[in-house]
Amino acid sequence: MKRKKIVAGNWKMYMDYEEGRALANAVISHLQPSETIVVLGTPYIHLKGISGLIKGVSSLKLAAQNCHQENNGAYTGEVSAPMLKSCGVDYVILGHSERREYFHETDALIARKIDAVMAQGMQPIYCCGERLEVREAGEHEALVSRQVSEALFHLNEEQMRQVVIAYEPVWAIGTGKTASPEQAQEMHRHIRSLIRKQYGDGIAEGLTILYGGSVKPGNAAELFGQPDVDGGLIGGASLKAEDFIAIVESI
Ligand code: PGA
Repeated sequence: MKRKKIVAGNWKMYMDYEEGRALANAVISHLQPSETIVVLGTPYIHLKGISGLIKGVSSLKLAAQNCHQENNGAYTGEVSAPMLKSCGVDYVILGHSERREYFHETDALIARKIDAVMAQGMQPIYCCGERLEVREAGEHEALVSRQVSEALFHLNEEQMRQVVIAYEPVWAIGTGKTASPEQAQEMHRHIRSLIRKQYGDGIAEGLTILYGGSVKPGNAAELFGQPDVDGGLIGGASLKAEDFIAIVESI
């Protein structure tokens, strides 16, 4: 089965509104037609404006980096899934390690956010991955198994087909240390086998699994060349259009 390839940028809390528009325009002007889905994961306030800019570029999609688990309510400062949907959002990055660490998000909370996003017809990009001490203790596969089952295994088959998983070893995020292609492949194969056991072959083979953690133009091709690596979630290198496009082109 041919899996969808995705390269998603995660801008995190960088780029003011004008800088964000300029970056999106630069990506649009450099993007070559291909089957790869290219996603811009922008701060909330950019979403509506950038949705207008990318309209008509069929391979470009829009992602938010978080959302609240309730559809509405007295939650000052929060943004809900229906609000994101109304701004033209296609994907929502959920469970990023920075949200787990700084905002104390648990798998149980992330599972509720996934439900909220899917109820609006948007697709979650569910992030999982271990910290360095967990890998050093040899417990990385057990931890990722738990993250995947606790956040996703309540979904039915139809929902599971809409999920994208991003494996992001915490020790590789923003550190310049990348997982070796072999380490990435090993974990991606493990994740696919978890999905196979729970949902069967068809859904496992169709699942897009992204690698994230210090992906750059210089290492992207080797990572993307692994059989179970279907693209990337790109932080730092997504903030420069040339680097981001070079990564997109190395798939
Ligand atoms: P990085 O971030 O590419 O800067 O390591 C990846 C991410 O946090 O998604």
